[in-house]
Parts: sequence; C-alpha cells; structure tokens
Amino acid sequence: MSDPSTPYADALRANAEGGWTRWAIPAHQDQPGRHPALAALAGEGALAMDIPMFTEGVDLPGPGEPGPSPFARSLALAAEAWGARRTWFLTDGASQGNHAACLALRGRGHHAVVQRSVHTSVIDGAILAGLRLEFVLPHVDLGLGIAHGVTPGDLDAVLARHPGASGAYVVSPSYFGAVSDVAGLVAVAHRHDVPLIVDEAWGSHFGFHPGLPRSALSCGADVVVSSTHKLAGSLTQSAMLHLGEGPYSDQLEPLLDRALRTFQTTSPSALLLASLDVARRDLLVNAANGSLAQSIADADRVRSLLVEGGRYADPAPSILDSPDVVGLDPLHVVVDTSSGGLSGYDARTILEAQARIHVELATQSVIVGIVGAGSRLDADYVAKALHALPHRAGSGSSGGREARPIALPPPGPRALDVREAFLAPAEVVPWDQAAGRVSADSLAAYPPGVPNVLPGEVITAEVVDFLRETARSPYGWVRGSVDPLTDHLRVVR
Ligand SMILES: Cc1ncc(COP(=O)(O)O)c(C=O)c1O
Repeated sequence: MSDPSTPYADALRANAEGGWTRWAIPAHQDQPGRHPALAALAGEGALAMDIPMFTEGVDLPGPGEPGPSPFARSLALAAEAWGARRTWFLTDGASQGNHAACLALRGRGHHAVVQRSVHTSVIDGAILAGLRLEFVLPHVDLGLGIAHGVTPGDLDAVLARHPGASGAYVVSPSYFGAVSDVAGLVAVAHRHDVPLIVDEAWGSHFGFHPGLPRSALSCGADVVVSSTHKLAGSLTQSAMLHLGEGPYSDQLEPLLDRALRTFQTTSPSALLLASLDVARRDLLVNAANGSLAQSIADADRVRSLLVEGGRYADPAPSILDSPDVVGLDPLHVVVDTSSGGLSGYDARTILEAQARIHVELATQSVIVGIVGAGSRLDADYVAKALHALPHRAGSGSSGGREARPIALPPPGPRALDVREAFLAPAEVVPWDQAAGRVSADSLAAYPPGVPNVLPGEVITAEVVDFLRETARSPYGWVRGSVDPLTDHLRVVR
C-alpha cells in the first residue's frame, strides 16, 4: 500500500487547535458563539478548519521549515496513488478540470477532436478557450436510450480528417459506468501525434482494487480529469486533474498549470482540499482492509437479486454489446426499469416516496444507483423495494408516461463553431419556431449533462421535443435553457 498519511488534513487540524486570535477572513473567525447558525449548519469543527489559503504550516512550509509544505506533500501523495506525474487539486469540480484542459489544449493548436457526448463543461471550456471542436460520434444504445463512448477506429477516422489537432478528448467511463478502450484510444491519439485527455469524472476510484477497471492513467492517458467527490469519497465540489507520464508531459505541464490558475478561485476551501487528502488515504486503506471489496460485493448482490427475481432484464449484455464498451464499473448499478414495466422516472419517484431511496439518475428507461467506494448498501432492502414497484405506474408525478425506451435524438448539423455561435448576436424564439434555426446556447438534459444541442448546431424538432419532455419530467432539467420548461430557445439572429 502507498503512504496512507494525510499531511494536509493533519496540518489543518493542528492549525485549528493552535489557539489563534483570528484577525483575518473569513468573517466568522472561528467564533461559533457569535455565528451560531453557521456553526449549527457546518459544525464547530468546520469553522475551526475554514481558513484562508497561504497559511504557514498548512499550505506553505511552517516558519523556518525547509518544505515541502503539507499541501505540497499531499499533492505528491495523490500523484503517487493515482500514478500521475503531477496532480492538481480542484475546488470547482471536474468542470474546472475540463475548462483548464481545453485552455491548455488551445496552447497546442486551434482545434481538438472531441467525443460528441462530452460533459457540458468541455463545451464551456472550448467556448472560453476559443478551441474549435471536431466531433467523434458515440454509439447510442437504442434499447436503453443512452450513449457510451467512442472506439479507437472512430477516433482514428476523425483525427485523419482533421490533421494538426491539439488533442483528442474522450469520456470514460460513461454516466452508466461503461468503460472505453482507453489504451486503444491512447495508441490512436499518439499515432496522430496528439495527447489523449480522458474525462474520468465517474472513475476516480478505478485501479484501487483488482475488481475495478484499470485507471485511464495506467492505460497511458496523457491528462485525466477526475471528479473525486463522485465515487472516491471527498466532499462535493472537490476534484483532481492528473498529468500522465508520456510524450507530451513536458509540453502540457506548464500549459495546464497556467490554465488552472485562470480558472481557480483565489480562496479555495481548505475543507475541500483536506477532503481530497483524506479520500486518497481512504481509498488505499479501504482497498487494503476489504471495505472496497464489500462495496463491490453489495453492488453485485443488488444486480444478482434483480436477475434472480426475474422481473428486470440484466442490462449488462446490451451495454457490453456496444462496440465502444470494453468493461463496466461494478459500483454503477444500472437497472433496466422499462423491462420491469415502468419508466425510470416513475421508478425513481416511487422509490423515493415509498422507500426513501435516493437514486443517482433516472432516464425514461433506466435508473442508475451508485455505491460509493468504501460505502455499504443494503442490497436486500433495495432489491425488495425494486420488486415491489407497481407495473406501469399510472398516477406517479411523471404523469404516467409509458415505459418505452426513447432514443437520444441525434444532433442537428453544424452551421457555426461553438464560440462563434455563443458570441453571435442572438434572439429568443418560442419553441415551435426554433427548428431549423442555429442554436446560440448549449442545451443539456440533466442528468447526465451531455449537451443535446451545441452552440452553432441547427436545432431539430426532435431535439426540441426531447428537451421539453426532459424539462417536464420530475427530476430532469435542461441546463442552459432560457426558461425552466424550455418554452423558448436562444438562436443566432
Ligand atoms: C463526464 C462528466 N465530466 C465532468 C462532470 C463535471 O463534474 P463536477 O460536477 O465535479 O464539476 C460531470 C458531472 O456530472 C460528468 O458527468
């Protein structure tokens, strides 16, 4: 096991007990008696550890100490644990990592080849960086209505059509836990002399246990964006960016470092940073003491109870049948509710109301539950609740829609580059006049947050219908929409 110590978290705790008179920001100044509502909300310990950046002995070496500081040691330990040349801690999620990676790529060239189903933060990053995008279309699982990843062959073809790209950008695993052939994608990217950036937001725990897929870094990815808070156990909003060891590392390191500063708050939360230090330690310890194996076993047990119950079809064969999928993350539990006679939306509503089960994601045809690395799930309780769901719920808050799988609408043709369209003079039109116009916005059904329309794409009637249906579902919303129900869309004038 690598070093399980937590230098940053330890230094933060020691500083909190240091008997300071705080005459600096933040304004609560660790005075719970003067700020009782805040103390009750966050806990007194949180106030004591909520300190500004650049504190000596925590972020910087202590007075007279040679360094490296506890913060620098914690970064180095994270890099070692994930197998990176260098790791940066992020306090604005993997989104910040994607923004920075796009700006860094812009330092290598004008355009990048990008999986069309990247998270919306990659599109936002490209808009901010002025990075032109050429797309590789993912395969869509029509049965389940979900998109996964791209194949090395698909990437090869698009890179060949767009020589001189600054990089290639893919997502693995998908929101459904489907893993792409990252090693194959790396080989293709390097053959075209471009680095491969992998958005591994949903796989920050990969590689920490033999029952989990290999991490993108171990497959040779050049840059990896990791949403540590999602499955690896740090606090919400904390994340990491890793630089791999490879042919582009020397060039990318200063580009990433500079880009990250551009998107980094000057007041990162010490609590979020410390939670990253602790999450790394917990992954190592939980892998060694069997807790991570228990998480995997709990997820496996839900899956086998559902198959044994005979009501729900196992979605794994269909997902693995996709040419772009080479493996599945065991901690993502996908339940094909449509095969069990009701929509994912209805299943989610009823599970929440009747069993107080909060699932990660619902679509028309599936729900996805997540078992956090090191956490336990009462598999028998969850499977029993799923078997108790009514067939085709008629009076749920989703209005009793049929449990029919809907295909993701294909994107419309591209008319303008994303940044050009985002910055162009625009107007807002009613939804029934939007088809055929060029979108000025990125519109993404959330979850999963993959843009269905990009700035510069021609809006189709199918996409408008899909977005309006999502906006009216009990848990869906459309990120980037002019109004909550997508009754209007912003188009290029
Ligand atoms: C593939 C992918 N990348 C990046 C993100 C953004 O992560 P964060 O919420 O940590 O900013 C998400 C969020 O769901 C995602 O699904």
